[in-house]
Amino acid sequence: MVAATGLFRPDEVATAGELLDEALAGDDEYRFVGAYAGEDLVGYACWGPTPGTVGTADLYWIVVDRDRQGSGIGTQLLAYVEAALSAVGCRLIVVETSSRVDYAPTRAFYERRGYTRAATIPGYYAPGDDLVVYLKDLTHGVLARTAS
Ligand SMILES: CC(C)(COP(=O)(O)OP(=O)(O)OC[C@H]1O[C@@H](n2cnc3c(N)ncnc32)[C@H](O)[C@@H]1OP(=O)(O)O)[C@@H](O)C(=O)NCCC(=O)NCCS
Repeated sequence: MVAATGLFRPDEVATAGELLDEALAGDDEYRFVGAYAGEDLVGYACWGPTPGTVGTADLYWIVVDRDRQGSGIGTQLLAYVEAALSAVGCRLIVVETSSRVDYAPTRAFYERRGYTRAATIPGYYAPGDDLVVYLKDLTHGVLARTAS
């Protein structure tokens, strides 16, 4: 499913599999949720606590089956992750993505779901391919007020 999106390099596809292997081996730093149509897996999200932080989590991966994108599955997965993190007192979700043109729909997906673009590291992934960091404050502004 990850490979079929056409967005990820082979090494990224391999990393996605490794994260699942680690979770299945009992590493609870990586949490997974799947979306199913009947018995078919049609999407999943992977997240976990960000090492060295208090109440910050990374959304490591979110993917929806290519043929089912745009039908609300990603929104449901993201809402599930946010609710799960809120339930354990997480304050902040961090998402890393790419500045590439083919990631424009992905960036729009995050932005329309309340994620704010917090940082860009030029050329991080490759020449001309920047790292874009998005944040969502699960405290609904308390975090920002505390920081200022
Ligand atoms: C990004 C992704 C997880 C969103 O899931 P989804 O089920 O397609 O999204 P939804 O149907 O819930 O929401 C559709 C919204 O996402 C946006 N979107 C992003 N990618 C899209 C796609 N390939 N097809 C349709 N809509 C897409 C649309 O602009 C739409 O925005 P709007 O509702 O605010 O107008 C999914 O499209 C995907 O797997 N993309 C490829 C992998 C990827 O980019 N993963 C994230 C890496 S950081």
